Amino acid sequence: MWNWEDVDQECVQRLALEYPALWHYIISIQFTHSKGMMAYITYMAQRVIECHRILKDTGSIYYHCDPTASHYVKLLLDIIFGKKNFRNEIIWSYQGTANPKTHFKRKHDIILFYAKNAKAVFFDNLGSSEEISEFSKSKFTKADDNGKYKEIRHKDGSVHKQYMRNIQRCRDVWEMPIINAMAKERTGYPTQKPLALLERIIKASCPEGGLVLDPFCGCATTCVAAQNLSRKWIGIDTEEHAVKVLKGRLSYDDGLEDLANFIATNIIPQRTDVKIIEDTPQTRAEIKKKLFADQKGCCNGCEIELDIWHFEIDHIIPKSKGGGDYYENFQLLCGNCNRTKSNKSMDYLRNKIDRRNKELTEIFYKK
Ligand SMILES: C[S@@+](CC[C@H](N)C(=O)[O-])C[C@H]1O[C@@H](n2cnc3c(N)ncnc32)[C@H](O)[C@@H]1O
Ligand SMILES: [Zn+2]
Repeated sequence: MWNWEDVDQECVQRLALEYPALWHYIISIQFTHSKGMMAYITYMAQRVIECHRILKDTGSIYYHCDPTASHYVKLLLDIIFGKKNFRNEIIWSYQGTANPKTHFKRKHDIILFYAKNAKAVFFDNLGSSEEISEFSKSKFTKADDNGKYKEIRHKDGSVHKQYMRNIQRCRDVWEMPIINAMAKERTGYPTQKPLALLERIIKASCPEGGLVLDPFCGCATTCVAAQNLSRKWIGIDTEEHAVKVLKGRLSYDDGLEDLANFIATNIIPQRTDVKIIEDTPQTRAEIKKKLFADQKGCCNGCEIELDIWHFEIDHIIPKSKGGGDYYENFQLLCGNCNRTKSNKSMDYLRNKIDRRNKELTEIFYKK
């Protein structure tokens, strides 16, 4: 349960100024669902923005939640990661007793999977393959020296042998049992996820030696899974108790021979990427106000005059092309221009706008 008191008010102001589209969406949630859901999505927006910021271009995010909130979270991720970077809505389905009178048994959770950049994303489809079911296996009734096979008959009468493979590429529906009361891996933590679930995710989206972050790590299933698979990992939790559980689990799982490599800290790390320059505006809100005045309230792309609320801060030279975080490299663009420019140059944006204006003029004169 979340309420508005959980939400950092400074963050709310930043969201309203810097992410107008997101802010419009968040405000609407109080009318479609509740103020509680609006608070939850705001709280998570602040954190998802940071996850997006620190994620590598090849990286992915997996967001687990139950079906009461997953559709609200999906919009949040669409806005922050971009709809083009949506990869899968994974259904994690499991068994369990229940006898509801008005609906089907609710036995699945949702995991939303987005790439930072769908064109560059690391994804190992074989690493995450699953064994084929007994039912599928039972169809391979013939055998020769090459193994079991079934015959596929084509329309022209020809017959082709399809050999049985033991594994198949994973679908987006995952049948995996929840942790039962007697399981060896059980920690007593109420929301503990099975190791197998996290291992599949990590194998698919993080190369060996890569880094996995779980910013809500709880009893640290993600960390243990990453350790077992030789990936580096970081876990964050607001409960100090989480560290104790993690230490216990790592020695229990024999995952970590050398605990000296494991650092637990409650010091909040300093950001090193934000360069604060004397005599120039420092917070993003101040930068935005100064840019707005310098540009006389007009978009640097389409030159349309708008309220400050509609503008987004853009890096003139995109960060992915070496542009930095300093005032001279910032400009305000309207949301539409910002998305058109994306990580490309101003020349590209101006060309696009010219072409669009030409098309519009042609349509106008035809009429
Ligand atoms: C659902 S549990 C995670 C369980 C985990 N996936 C596992 O299998 O071990 C969520 C955790 O997030 C922590 N948490 C809540 N708010 C947080 C915040 N703002 N930052 C970090 N952790 C937070 C809670 O203490 C809780 O342990
Ligand atoms: Zn514009």
